[in-house]
Formats: sequence, structure tokens, C-alpha cells
Amino acid sequence: MHRTLPFLTILFFFVGITKFRGQIDRWTAPEDAKKLVNPIKDKATSIERGVKIFKTRCMICHGAKGVGDGIGGKALNPKPQNLTLKMVQSQTDGELFWKITNGRNDMIKWGPILSEEQRWDLVNFVKSL
Ligand code: HEC
Repeated sequence: MHRTLPFLTILFFFVGITKFRGQIDRWTAPEDAKKLVNPIKDKATSIERGVKIFKTRCMICHGAKGVGDGIGGKALNPKPQNLTLKMVQSQTDGELFWKITNGRNDMIKWGPILSEEQRWDLVNFVKSL
């Protein structure tokens, strides 16, 4: 018993650190981004455009249905996000636009690659999942 106690203490210490790191590692967009206004009025045609862009640019990692199971994402750490989760869906359009624009880790910085309209089309598509 006197031998397992220090062991358990150390174990709980590391579990604690890992949990804590998981929390601070959560990707959050800056405050300003939340207020960005989605300029696209015709959501239906925007989503149609968004599907096409998603298939060519995003599906490889995020999977056909956006659940994060694309073949290109298998070996990545952190994994491509499951875009259907409440954690993602509950963000404002502006926050998602900001993340798509700026990227992080293996998530590509799409700002220099896709037009603003294309990035909003993707936001509209992601929100439709
Ligand atoms: C090379 C693989 C890859 C491709 C291609 C990719 N992503 Fe990602 N994506 C990731 C990874 C990995 C993360 C998680 C990044 C992190 O948390 O550090 C991510 C995260 C995200 C997030 C943030 C979710 C959140 O709130 O945490 C969004 C939104 C997103 N991707 C959308 C897209 C869209 C839209 C495209 C296509 C234009 C795309 N991704 C293409 C790998 C990819």
C-alpha cells in the first residue's frame, strides 16, 4: 500500500495535466471574428457551391459527410475536426470563417487560396451539415 500511493499520486498528476492541456488546446477564434457578418443572402445556392468546393478541397481530410474521417486525416494529430459536432455548429459564422481563413496545425490556411465568397460558401455548407 505504501508503495502504490506515490505511484497513484504521480498518475493522477499526469492525467490532470493532460486534461488541462486538452482544454487550453481547444481552438478558439478571436473575439473580433465572432462578429464578422456573413454577407451571403441566398443561402441555398451558396450551399450548392459550398458542396462542390468541400468535395475538392476539404473532403480528403474531413470526410464526405464532414465527420472527420477522410483518408488524408488518418495520420494527423490533432485529427481533422468532426464538423457536425455541436462544438463546431454552435460557433458563429464569423468564427468558422476566421478558422477556415487562418488555419492551424494541419488545417490549411485557406485565406490565400480561396476567395472570400468561396470561404463563406464553405461556412454555409458546414452549417448545413
Ligand atoms: C490536410 C487536412 C485538412 C484539410 C484539407 C482541411 N482541413 Fe479543416 N481541419 C484539419 C485539422 C487537422 C483540423 C484541426 C486543427 C486543430 O484543431 O488544430 C481542422 C479544423 C477545421 C475547422 C475548425 C473546427 C473547430 O472549430 O475546431 C474547420 C471549420 C475546418 N477544419 C474546415 C475545413 C474546410 C472548410 C476545409 C476545406 C476548404 C478544410 N477544413 C480542409 C485538417 C484539414
